[in-house]
Amino acid sequence: MSSTSTSGPLTTGPWPLTADRDAHGALTIGGVSVVALAEEHGTPLWVVDEQDLRRRCQRYVEGFPGVDVTYASKAWCTVGILQLVDEEGLLIDVASGGELHTALVAGVAPDRLVLHGNNKSVAELDQALEVGVGRIVVDSFDELERLQRLAAARDVVADVWLRITPGIDAHTHEYVRTGHDDAKFGFTLSLGLADEAFTRSLDLANVEVVGIHAHIGSQIFGTDPFIANAEVMLDLLARWRDEHAVTLAELNLGGGMGIRYTHEDHPVEVARYGKAVLEAVEERCAALDYPRPRLVVEPGRAIVGPSTVTVYEVGTVKPLPGLTTWVSVDGGMSDNIRPALYDAEHEVALANRVSQASPRSVTVVGKHCESGDLVREHAPLPEDLQVGDLLAVAATGAYTASMASNYNRLVRPAAVLVRDGRVRPLVRRETLEDLVRNDVPIR
Ligand code: LLP
Repeated sequence: MSSTSTSGPLTTGPWPLTADRDAHGALTIGGVSVVALAEEHGTPLWVVDEQDLRRRCQRYVEGFPGVDVTYASKAWCTVGILQLVDEEGLLIDVASGGELHTALVAGVAPDRLVLHGNNKSVAELDQALEVGVGRIVVDSFDELERLQRLAAARDVVADVWLRITPGIDAHTHEYVRTGHDDAKFGFTLSLGLADEAFTRSLDLANVEVVGIHAHIGSQIFGTDPFIANAEVMLDLLARWRDEHAVTLAELNLGGGMGIRYTHEDHPVEVARYGKAVLEAVEERCAALDYPRPRLVVEPGRAIVGPSTVTVYEVGTVKPLPGLTTWVSVDGGMSDNIRPALYDAEHEVALANRVSQASPRSVTVVGKHCESGDLVREHAPLPEDLQVGDLLAVAATGAYTASMASNYNRLVRPAAVLVRDGRVRPLVRRETLEDLVRNDVPIR
């Protein structure tokens, strides 16, 4: 890890804000050595840098003045993380009854919640109405009808945003693109579905469309797709004003800001991103003579991703002469499916010590029974890497724990929050008992 990656501004490296080395060369986060953390809490371990996480929330709020910054909890949804994000003044988006339940258990005020999902169940929608979530994002005609029925039965009016599919192709991995026309999400604008949804909603007594929403994808670098999205959405609002004499006052521009996973990634600084989007909104509103709507953005990855490292212990080192050196750690695709699913690359560093040995390219793999179980291909790690060393994998706060599984019946790891030398548990490590808790024996 170079010094710039540990002490420079947040955007200069994939390591969290307080990452440093102690006198023994061990990686420290929040003033706590990962060696001590591994001894106390075991490995694999998610180590969350509290200051980094809070700073990222604050930077988003500062970078988007006057905008409702909403944490997309799918990135990492645990009670402690939601409480922290809530303390920083962010709203929270939930995309299932489970995420909604977690937010309620965390004590988040229901009116600060937004409910998403392309196939919300009757129970999920009804729960949202019952507790009074702030906004429901309607994704389909079926849902529009379902919600009308449920809201009428409760004699309430649901304030909703229509999810628009704006026809913007963000250049990111196919599995995390959502804004292009042929997507499972939302009402496709170019096919007239957005217009039809809005027109139909005007006849519904218990569903009030108060705004629109579009999320164009995830891990997007550069500001152009976001600006294009804002412009398309404002054009739509202005057109509906002209055609229906209704001025919708709320616009949610989704999430998707890319982060740094390795030193090769160069994401946009949040302040620049905010400035670019807000300027584009001002300009377009002026051109369309449209009152600036209440704006909402929905970052997930950019809030929680860079705050966290995963600490693993090396269990085997297998150099194949002329071929690959395979380094196996004690977790893998069950705690981070991203390399297997998206070819994601996370930077890896030796964490328990520094080494003067020259680096060699190794492939770090997990302990699961398949070859796709990659942690990082071609990682430059010191030649003297040995069994018992600890490895830290960068930027694992988003979409690792939240997508974790018990594949091969591995228990899901623990997570701890560290700050100023203090360690607070966030998630306890599962036990073997947890693994069989829901199994029903047949004899
Ligand atoms: N809003 C909506 C409606 C979304 O679907 C998402 C992400 C977000 C906001 C937050 O996007 P973010 O700021 O985190 O990019 N598992 C994948 C990412 C899937 C993103 C799903 N939706 C990964 O590990 O890269």
